[in-house]
Amino acid sequence: MATKVALTIFFVLAVDLVTSQTLLAKTETDADIKMREQMVKMSRDLGVTCVYCHNPENFKESKNKNFAVAAQHMKITKLLNSDKGFGGKPEVTCFVCHQGKAKFEYELSGPSQLK
Ligand code: HEC
Ligand code: HEC
Repeated sequence: MATKVALTIFFVLAVDLVTSQTLLAKTETDADIKMREQMVKMSRDLGVTCVYCHNPENFKESKNKNFAVAAQHMKITKLLNSDKGFGGKPEVTCFVCHQGKAKFEYELSGPSQLK
């Protein structure tokens, strides 16, 4: 009897472990992986680390000013890559403007600035 109970418990736990692992594997979706890759690339393009925009305790928090600006610039970048922009030819990334720096020299010099 005791063996039977123990075996049943073992079986239930084993099934539970397998399903929870499948669930765990599923919680990291392709979208999550894509988001992380995008975040790593974005950080490199700006020459910053995650904490420049995020509270590492809570990545969903959006109080940081840089987070808000980045969200807007992600939209702009998306628009520039759409058919209303360059349609991906060439592909516009953060690096196109930022060149590896969060703050960069963006005032144009040259004929277009001459009045
Ligand atoms: C330049 C600012 C910036 C940097 C640097 C940055 N992020 Fe983000 N991150 C954002 C913005 C803006 C969003 C919201 C994007 C959206 O909603 O489409 C976001 C979203 C996320 C999310 C999704 C949060 C959610 O709501 O589920 C995760 C996770 C994340 N970032 C992780 C990282 C990691 C890890 C790094 C470092 C490798 C990083 N980020 C670097 C600005 C940044
Ligand atoms: C079309 C050009 C352009 C693109 C593309 C662009 N940005 Fe920007 N970004 C700017 C300009 C201009 C500023 C203002 C720079 C300044 O005042 O120092 C800026 C400022 C920022 C700032 C604030 C920096 C600070 O410390 O004050 C963040 C954060 C930022 N951009 C994130 C991004 C991210 C993330 C991307 C890619 C998803 C991106 N930007 C793509 C032009 C661009």
